Amino acid sequence: MSKNEKELRAEIAGLVKDFYDVKFKDEFYIPGETPVRYAGRVFDETELQALVDSSLDFWLTSGRYTDEFESEFADLFDLEYAFLTNSGSSANLLAFSALTSPLLGDRKLKPGDEVISVAAGFPTTVNPIIQHGMVPVFVDVELGTYNIDPRELKKAIGPKTRAIFLAHTLGNPYNLDVIQELVEEYNLWFIEDCCDALGSKYNGKMLGTFGHITTCSFYPAHHITMGEGGAVLTDDDDLARAVRSIRDWGRDCYCAGGENNTCGKRFSGQYGTLPKGYDHKYVYSHIGYNLKATDMQAAIGVEQLKKLDGFIERRKENFRLWTEGFKKWEDKFILPYAIEGSDPAWFAYPVTVKEDAGFTRTEFTDFLSQNLVETRNLFGGNLLRQPAYFDIEKRVVGDLKVTDLIMHQTFFLGTFPGLTRDKIIFSLSVIEKFMERLPL
Ligand SMILES: Cc1ncc(COP(=O)(O)O)c(C=O)c1O
Repeated sequence: MSKNEKELRAEIAGLVKDFYDVKFKDEFYIPGETPVRYAGRVFDETELQALVDSSLDFWLTSGRYTDEFESEFADLFDLEYAFLTNSGSSANLLAFSALTSPLLGDRKLKPGDEVISVAAGFPTTVNPIIQHGMVPVFVDVELGTYNIDPRELKKAIGPKTRAIFLAHTLGNPYNLDVIQELVEEYNLWFIEDCCDALGSKYNGKMLGTFGHITTCSFYPAHHITMGEGGAVLTDDDDLARAVRSIRDWGRDCYCAGGENNTCGKRFSGQYGTLPKGYDHKYVYSHIGYNLKATDMQAAIGVEQLKKLDGFIERRKENFRLWTEGFKKWEDKFILPYAIEGSDPAWFAYPVTVKEDAGFTRTEFTDFLSQNLVETRNLFGGNLLRQPAYFDIEKRVVGDLKVTDLIMHQTFFLGTFPGLTRDKIIFSLSVIEKFMERLPL
């Protein structure tokens, strides 16, 4: 007798597990031969099974897995709305775009408005400000936390300042007490880029629940992955409407894919100067994009989300192991720290080579690289020194001295769950070798 769909799906899932066991399960680590990566995807057969299950639906665009992911992701933050996007950069673009929505009336951001950010960060936190004809205001950061300097932040606010858009650097929370005070006092919008900070907390609350709108990334280096992916979160009904619309071509209609007439007035509404009853599916209330992800990405995300707590614990433990190892070289390096009240789910372990260390960052990271230990620079260093930013309209507060220092002297090591204790022990032995070669 031929098998039905359910039986075939179960059989395929069993085969996928066998495949996982053969191809991925027993990855051996050989110190000195296998590279010590700074990041990477961590998964088991369940992600592969979900991915294949979704592909068998052949729905392709957002569907049942997207609904499930969005609902569970919003619950994780205890927020009303989560919207899946095709990357963290798209999430940043979308979140910022939503603040320009006509739905916000006088509160909407306009070209020429100033938005406070930092130059020691990832480009796509800053880019949406420029792409919308607004003026980024660059403030210096602190060594050790690599976050905005709260004293400089207070000085940065001017008559045109309308918003703060900041990433929690490498998962380390910035001073949200100071920021929330300023947001209230000056009636600012606050966008929290949590792309590197999923699961970090401040005063016992999840990062991402402090801002008006929040973004996450699911690129493989991040706390959970779906290959490419991101999300926008908010509790605000107007922002949610704007995000949905702008993500989905700018359309006014909010029917899920494949559904019709959720609003009940698909052929009876009056919009703009369109003829009465013009099909709501083709009514556009925002200048939008298409930033949706596929259901196959969401399927992977649903499984990754189940592993998040364990992933966070591993990141914290790896941070602790690095700190223990680096302690004896504190005369050479500035080690990272978190401010009071914060509980970071570290994206990475940032380290700054001291000016009088007797070696440069490049000499050190090159040695590690030759010995198969990966490091990364703190993203773009000082973004204002990158070719793309030479001619942008901007305001700079102070001399960005620490930002420049980071560009020259800071690097980071991994904390991701695939970084096992033996890999950290090997990496520390490589550092020991480097130190032994230094002249006394
Ligand atoms: C702070 C920050 N924001 C945004 C992004 C962009 O995320 P994505 O790579 O998913 O576009 C990144 C990327 O790693 C990031 O580190």
